[in-house]
Amino acid sequence: MTATAPVHRLARYREEFPVFERAIYLNSCSLGALSRRARSAVNAYLDQWETRGASAWYDTWLPAVERLRAGYGALVGTEAGAISIHPCISSALSVAAESLDYSTRRRVVTTSLDFPTVAYQWLAKVDRGVELVIVESPDGIGVPLERLAAAIDGRTALVATSHVYFTSGTIQDIRAVADLAHRAGALVLVDGYQAAGQLPVDVTALDVDFYCSGGLKWLLGGSGIAFLYVRPALAGLLEPSIAGWFGHAMPFRFDARELRRASDAHRFDLGTPSVASVYAQLGGLELLAEIGIASVREVTADLTEDLIREARALGITPKVAARAEDRSGIVMLPSGDPARDVHRLAEAGFIVDARPGHVRVSPYFYNLPEDHRAMLEHFVRV
Ligand SMILES: Cc1ncc(COP(=O)(O)O)c(C=O)c1O
Repeated sequence: MTATAPVHRLARYREEFPVFERAIYLNSCSLGALSRRARSAVNAYLDQWETRGASAWYDTWLPAVERLRAGYGALVGTEAGAISIHPCISSALSVAAESLDYSTRRRVVTTSLDFPTVAYQWLAKVDRGVELVIVESPDGIGVPLERLAAAIDGRTALVATSHVYFTSGTIQDIRAVADLAHRAGALVLVDGYQAAGQLPVDVTALDVDFYCSGGLKWLLGGSGIAFLYVRPALAGLLEPSIAGWFGHAMPFRFDARELRRASDAHRFDLGTPSVASVYAQLGGLELLAEIGIASVREVTADLTEDLIREARALGITPKVAARAEDRSGIVMLPSGDPARDVHRLAEAGFIVDARPGHVRVSPYFYNLPEDHRAMLEHFVRV
């Protein structure tokens, strides 16, 4: 094992995350750590709630939701009007799934490595004639593009898959997937929950039709806040079969007789957003914007590579993509009893996660090499 663990250039941001005063946090792909910035944004909201109550809606809280929409837009290289706000990824996915016409193209193609809530959107529609095609991964790490290509054809309405797989951390070549889908006349939806924040994302360059992500993990916003990007040229053409008053062009007219949807991605909004979560996310996004996602990626990639190297030096074979450029800050360490190992590590002060057959470790820019090096030493101790 390497003797010294060099400190990186974002190490000063560790102070923003009080969890490190108590534990070594290595679980950002489950839940990003709470920053002082996010906590003080939520505290400001609580003060407003206490002192102003509902009078804060129009001049403070609704503008905050719009600031968040712009922040999410900037994060993925688009404008605020292309972003719809949701409480979770499942909600974002379901409004997209309810927007498509399955009458001539019945199929949705996804993969065995995608988070199950993606598949569930279309399994829930099987009795309406929708067919879900799950492309299998040969190794649990990635899905070869040729396998996807073989599954996508003139029957495909949508290809729905992840930017980064939650089980292996592998970064998928989304532009190539989008090209395959579009060539067959299908749309493409990307679950970017494990990507946005830790990787630079440009929805225009990726040429995707839908992209969703949210606060929980790499965007440091906690639970209760997510977003759906819809390609601007497509948004106005879609009429979801579910609706909410926040998707109305003029919600505060309270007109129950006409569902006149907003012309842009606001039309995919449903109901009142969780304002505390909006504020937490504004705090997290502010921090990420200050640091810059390119720097986050560089530091996180270095930490990930160091973790993999150190694990291998200890005789562990992490389940990760073969090429470093396809890897992200999720590293799977094989384990005979992941729940027991996670518990054992927690008792030693290391917060990691269990997935079937593996302990899942995810370093982020607020980690130092010494975090995972010390964790590995405990991990190999029987
Ligand atoms: C890639 C991915 N998609 C979706 C989800 C779940 O999304 P939600 O609970 O917000 O619906 C997770 C994990 O929580 C995930 O890792």
